[in-house]
Amino acid sequence: MKSRYKRLTSLALSLSMALGISLPAWASPDTSVDNKVNFSTDVIYQIVTDRFADGDRTNNPAGDAFSGDRSNLKLYFGGDWQGIIDKINDGYLTGMGVTALWISQPVENITSVIKYSGVNNTSYHGYWARDFKQTNDAFGDFADFQNLIDTAHAHNIKVVIDFAPNHTSPADRDNPGFAENGALYDNGSLLGTYSNDTAGLFHHNGGTDFSTIEDGIYKNLYDLADINHNNGKMDAYFKSAIDLWLGMGVDGIRFDAVKHMPFGWQKSLVSSIYGGDHPVFTFGEWYLGVDQTDGDNIKFANESGMNLLDFEYAQEVREVFRDKTETMKDLYEVLASTESQYDYINNMVTFIDNHDMDRFQVAGSGTRATEQALTLTLTSRGVPAIYYGTEQYMTGDGDPNNRAMMTSFNTGTTAYKVIQALAPLRKSNPAIAYGTTTERWVNNDVLIFERKFGSSTALVAINRSASASYPISGLLSSLPAGTYSDELNGLLNGNSITVGSGGAVTNFTLAAGGTAVWQYTAPETSPAIGNVGPTMGQPGNIVTIDGRGFGGTAGTVYFGTTVVTGSGIVSWEDTQIKAVIPKAAAGKTGVSVKTSSGTASNTFKSFNVLTGDQVTVRFLVNQASTNYGTNVYLVGNVAELGSWDPNKAIGPMYNQVIAKYPSWYYDVSVPAGTKLEFKFIKKGGGTVTWEGGGNHTYTTPASGVGTVTVDWQN
Ligand code: NOJ
Ligand code: NOJ
Ligand code: CA
Ligand code: CA
Repeated sequence: MKSRYKRLTSLALSLSMALGISLPAWASPDTSVDNKVNFSTDVIYQIVTDRFADGDRTNNPAGDAFSGDRSNLKLYFGGDWQGIIDKINDGYLTGMGVTALWISQPVENITSVIKYSGVNNTSYHGYWARDFKQTNDAFGDFADFQNLIDTAHAHNIKVVIDFAPNHTSPADRDNPGFAENGALYDNGSLLGTYSNDTAGLFHHNGGTDFSTIEDGIYKNLYDLADINHNNGKMDAYFKSAIDLWLGMGVDGIRFDAVKHMPFGWQKSLVSSIYGGDHPVFTFGEWYLGVDQTDGDNIKFANESGMNLLDFEYAQEVREVFRDKTETMKDLYEVLASTESQYDYINNMVTFIDNHDMDRFQVAGSGTRATEQALTLTLTSRGVPAIYYGTEQYMTGDGDPNNRAMMTSFNTGTTAYKVIQALAPLRKSNPAIAYGTTTERWVNNDVLIFERKFGSSTALVAINRSASASYPISGLLSSLPAGTYSDELNGLLNGNSITVGSGGAVTNFTLAAGGTAVWQYTAPETSPAIGNVGPTMGQPGNIVTIDGRGFGGTAGTVYFGTTVVTGSGIVSWEDTQIKAVIPKAAAGKTGVSVKTSSGTASNTFKSFNVLTGDQVTVRFLVNQASTNYGTNVYLVGNVAELGSWDPNKAIGPMYNQVIAKYPSWYYDVSVPAGTKLEFKFIKKGGGTVTWEGGGNHTYTTPASGVGTVTVDWQN
């Protein structure tokens, strides 16, 4: 019975692809590129555009900036959007099963060659922007970009762009002749330069020493001309630039260096994306080192409305499989701790390497560790992102060695086949896309973990030891009785298993290096929510609720206790509901559904209902002296200001760069065109001291940014 369902699923999926026939609703989750807000069923493939494929030699930079023999890794190599189009059309990407591409920042970059210590450097990576409303000519023009989007969409592949609004390009305050002086253009017209910044487009606070979050936000990241997002022109510029790219059909945005931009500005930015004409999935880069956990990183992921790349996961996987400095027990602990830290664990973007880390594959080592880390990532919670060339076992430590030209497009590597075998399971088995994670068997070398969602299960076994096999006894699972073959077809020495009653797995031996995935899916008889996207929005915005068992007839959606029915239900299918956010009380609330026959679902926790359209306001309070260990926070009468709850107050506020102690400031996303009441409080050592006097008031601008400055009231 069970294995019949299992076979039915994959058979049905391949048949439907071949014949274009439609499937029973439960077997055909949303597989199309139409779902731009939830990526849990996707597999992302990260491409450094210049380093993937050169499909058009006519756009290659000339002269110093170009390395024709691809030996100088700091120069352009010629890769472009046409090259990616070619690799979609020739089946390399679709054959691997990836369903989204994350490409380099597409915008126009500086073209000058910069000498650092006598060595030539270029913008081949795309992070040295000049005009966010033009294309990087070396990648192609707008027609090429549109062609890339259209080709990708025609092959059911989403396109995610990198976007870096933290900075323009390298600049030297004292030397306008250095590089292009950080110049910023608006569709061809010059807005300003770094050393002659009459409009206040940039920060001029020197370079950050990375000592605090504040220092990293308001000072330059290295020598990159740092944008002042408290400037209304910059706020409008970046919002309209993003609209331009989203209007072309972009499906997601990876935001660069989110640790280095004001939290409040980013929250208002993503809320404008979610409330605009083209809402998409967003995720940010907040680098974490080995074994680093960071409360500010967690707070960002839970409160900003933007998701994050899962550096904690990546670093742990690298320690366990690549460097062997930690064990499989440690790995499971990180899976468990991250699941409790991050409210939207299914949206964390997982990876094992990227353009800022040593490549996962170690030169001269066997390939099994790479294959196992890929298996883990493809079957774990979060959205997997695979760095280009990892499937070809490319090696290279550090930047730029980790960004070499794609070495080959071999569809026969074991890693390619692993991705090919597992990527489709993210669509067909909701346990992999949305399920909980539970350890079922563990020692230092072996982890067997289970993903579970409703009546769907996936059981994954990995033995990282290249020499020791392990007898596995006493293994329990949620799989119904039956025999399960390895979804990897023995590619990594996995075996099949037999499950008896109560989920007891017959004893077996997991081979050295053995890796197997066993799974089961069945239709849901009661509704189960897997994900809600976006995770933040204002009344009137539409959210997409993905899951199983919603039934074919519209029922009811709840935001907390506020009911959404009738025209508030935009569409209702067995696996997906689109609903309008009601005028529920602003703040975090649960989302749940009831089928037309009255069966209630689980609750998706912590959906953030905003009061309304957001703008960014800088709150600055002077003369707020504190004792050591006590900080100033902001609290006020709207959910965005913590609704007068000191535990939800905004802060700790900053007091070093833009203004100095005893002044404190913070950039906050607050409802637009709204009369706010607020106070500052001092918090520390478990005590809260409220400001005296009446509440401060301030009416926020209808759009753009604002600043309000007051004195602390004793
Ligand atoms: C992080 C990016 O991933 C890195 O490659 C880049 O150089 C910096 N941010 C600056 O944009
Ligand atoms: C919350 C009240 O509503 C606000 O008006 C007042 O200023 C603070 N508490 C402090 O008492
Ligand atoms: Ca080219
Ligand atoms: Ca910054």
